Amino acid sequence: MVRSCIFFLLLLIISVLADPKVVSLSQTNSHGSLTFTVESGGQIYLASGDDNQLLKNIQLTTGSTTIPLDQLNVFNNDGTPKFITATGSVILTTSNNATTSAGLSGYIYVTTYQQAQDPTFSVCVLKTTQSIRKTTMKSTVVVLNTILKQNSVDYTMPRMTSYVTKINSSPNTNLKFHWDIPALSGEDGTKNVFFQNPIVLRNEEGPYNVFFDNVEPLQVGLNYWYFTSNGPVNMFLENKYISDISYWTTAVNTTGLIMNKRFYTNHIVYFRSDATRSAVSGVFESAYLTSSLTIKISGQCSSFGENFNNQENITQATAWVELRPVNMTVTSTSVFPGTFYIQYFAFAGNDPAPKPMC
Ligand SMILES: *[C@@H]1O[C@H](CO)[C@@H](O)[C@H](O)[C@H]1NC(C)=O
Ligand SMILES: *[C@@H]1O[C@H](CO)[C@@H](O)[C@H](O)[C@H]1NC(C)=O
Ligand SMILES: *[C@@H]1O[C@H](CO)[C@@H](O)[C@H](O)[C@H]1NC(C)=O
Ligand SMILES: *[C@@H]1O[C@H](CO)[C@@H](O)[C@H](O)[C@H]1NC(C)=O
Repeated sequence: MVRSCIFFLLLLIISVLADPKVVSLSQTNSHGSLTFTVESGGQIYLASGDDNQLLKNIQLTTGSTTIPLDQLNVFNNDGTPKFITATGSVILTTSNNATTSAGLSGYIYVTTYQQAQDPTFSVCVLKTTQSIRKTTMKSTVVVLNTILKQNSVDYTMPRMTSYVTKINSSPNTNLKFHWDIPALSGEDGTKNVFFQNPIVLRNEEGPYNVFFDNVEPLQVGLNYWYFTSNGPVNMFLENKYISDISYWTTAVNTTGLIMNKRFYTNHIVYFRSDATRSAVSGVFESAYLTSSLTIKISGQCSSFGENFNNQENITQATAWVELRPVNMTVTSTSVFPGTFYIQYFAFAGNDPAPKPMC
């Protein structure tokens, strides 16, 4: 009893300290060192597409270990990113000048002690391409993006992104993509989901799952994100961006993502459809808006729309209709509408199509 109390107290102390950290290298300053507290035993990673000649000038110290960052900017032989284990705080010192420091895009990510101990937890640094294969019944994978090194194809191109394809999971597996890093400031992983397969819909009989065999390429334009899965899953990640301002889906039953973090221009998705059968279309959305946003799904004869106001927040709302979609538009009057994530989906049912009403 006493022992379990002590254990509980220890757990409590650890969980108080348990905030994982992301610290940008652009915050380093040659006039002093940058120190931040992390949990001892946490794993320290670097995600950076910066020049090693500049990373070499930044020293990372934790406990009695000091390492120049170019030596942390590497992969192990098995393709996993190199990390060092934290012992006390992390100190970054640099001899780069202020202009050079301000131009760095990389960042340090430190896990908690518990995450470092967890065999189901892993970290991926995406520099070019990365195949992810998880065979266990449970996994959490943190994806650290690095700066895109391609010419701008449109002004909505994010600074960093993962282009996710070849997602292979089973209908009995709940696969969820989340923004942020796991357990950041009170998020328990249920309030920051921006993509899921299967999706959960509700009708009079209650909730039911709809699984999609076909998933459109997902462009996750975030510096970092993570996914959780309670079954085996594979996917392929690339550090690339393809303009999706106007996009044609690749199957009748399908799901995809439109997200925005910075500059936006109106998007349209054209759907493939099966004119002989009934259909359902809808969205799973979260939005933190600084300007109004309209989502409209148009069918042949009717449409379904949602208008969100400036300053409105929507967290993980699902909206769907029995409508065979022709297209979906996501429009804003501003080029800077705020952050939003729209997972769209469409599927044909087993019933014959209702008689057209127009
Ligand atoms: C800062 O350092 C870079 C690279 O070493 C150099 O090219 C640049 O001239 C320096 N700028 C200043 C203001 O010292
Ligand atoms: C979307 O589809 C509807 C219905 O066919 C059509 O009226 C509308 O013009 C389409 N919108 C765009 C932007 O193509
Ligand atoms: C919406 O979310 C943002 C960012 O999380 C927050 O700062 C703001 O207060 C929220 N607005 C409303 C109306 O809840
Ligand atoms: C599309 O999904 C519906 C509903 O889950 C299913 O009945 C139908 O057979 C699927 N069609 C295809 C082509 O997979």
